[in-house]
Amino acid sequence: MPEQGACTVVVGCQWGDEGKGKIVDVLAENVDIVARYQGGANAGHTVHVGDGQFVLHQIPSGILHSGRRCLLGNGVVLDVLQFFEEYDALLDRGIDIKGRVGVSYRAQLLMPYHRYLDKAVEDSAVTKIGTTGRGIGPAYEDKAGRRGVRVADLLAPERFAKRVDAAKARVCGRLEELGAGTEELDRAMDATFALGDRLLALAADVGKEISAALAGGRSVLLEGAQGTALDLDHGTYPFVTSSNTTAGAAAIGTGIGPTSITDVIGVVKAYTTRVGEGPLPSAFEPEMDEHVRKLGGEFGATTGRPRRCGWFDAVLTRYASQVNGLTGIAVTKLDVLDTLPELKIATGYRMPSGKVREFFPADTWSLSEIEPVYETLPGWQAPTTEARKLDDLPRNARSYLDRIEELTNAPVRWVSVGTQRSQIIPV
Ligand code: IMP
Repeated sequence: MPEQGACTVVVGCQWGDEGKGKIVDVLAENVDIVARYQGGANAGHTVHVGDGQFVLHQIPSGILHSGRRCLLGNGVVLDVLQFFEEYDALLDRGIDIKGRVGVSYRAQLLMPYHRYLDKAVEDSAVTKIGTTGRGIGPAYEDKAGRRGVRVADLLAPERFAKRVDAAKARVCGRLEELGAGTEELDRAMDATFALGDRLLALAADVGKEISAALAGGRSVLLEGAQGTALDLDHGTYPFVTSSNTTAGAAAIGTGIGPTSITDVIGVVKAYTTRVGEGPLPSAFEPEMDEHVRKLGGEFGATTGRPRRCGWFDAVLTRYASQVNGLTGIAVTKLDVLDTLPELKIATGYRMPSGKVREFFPADTWSLSEIEPVYETLPGWQAPTTEARKLDDLPRNARSYLDRIEELTNAPVRWVSVGTQRSQIIPV
């Protein structure tokens, strides 16, 4: 019997956009299967290969390595129209993806009406979340409400149509109450129905496939979307996404047992960003915010929205280390900090009472009242983009990484100093 294969989870440890796609792309070199376990087209993974740039929303970043099997697990809410747009765009760009993509029979279908409802709810909400408008919340609501439709439902077209009609009627009723229009909805529904057979042709039993691969000694990577602070349970609720983004969800969202997971790699950006509403405790002052946003090109890959930026928040990453059970971290975009004379790291939160907390609080609202306690480190003020091994980095950059490692409580395993594969340094 071959030894059980390695199963690594890659998870975001901040508010998403940590650069997971780039890390998955590099790790995919040594695995046989890459699988997404939650989220949908709200994700936007940018991967640079040579002169080309690929923005992937639903298909795992492993697709850019030939021969890797890429799966979408049951935890995903699959936007069929968007998925085939992405699939066909990859084909057009000459990526050989035939036979390499599989979608769980148990994955929920995100229907066009979910997008309409997402936008209408957000427009009328008193407490706005700043969603990506991709229909994520309403699709997971239908899943939890047991009204959703899954890939397997396509096997019985009549029953499928009936369930969709009932769910759509319910959503249209809510849209009417909210005074929102449904122009083009029917056209999008027809286009979705027309893709049913194409989708069924890709359907797979993802849990079975991954389990068999692991039993056969092959290795698997489970790719998370968004980040720990956007997790429905463990994030800054209610300013979160509607799925569990953290490592525990990787088993549930693909259909394997948690004991199969051998490694959990947390991806942290060398500073912090957030897009959408909700508190960002270590936010920069406006001028610095603008400066770092430009240096780091911090604009959403899915929506183009500017991301708010701030200092590295070790209170959050330490919490992420605990929630995810991290076995290592990848620190991305270190080069963005190359020109800064000094760097700060938040190590605690001072409450209005004056008490300093070192743990991420459950009370989200209190995050707007706290004052971060910072530690200041000297910058390195030298370019790092040419570094190919840890020793090539300036001493102050290495000290900064050492401090991140110490405060986060997980060893640094990779550092990225640019967008190319060659700029991801193994440690
Ligand atoms: P939703 O996932 O579209 O419902 O959005 C909920 C919250 O998660 C909003 O604050 C979004 O900006 C945020 N969000 C969702 N997906 C991503 C992502 O891939 N990167 C960063 N933020 C995201």
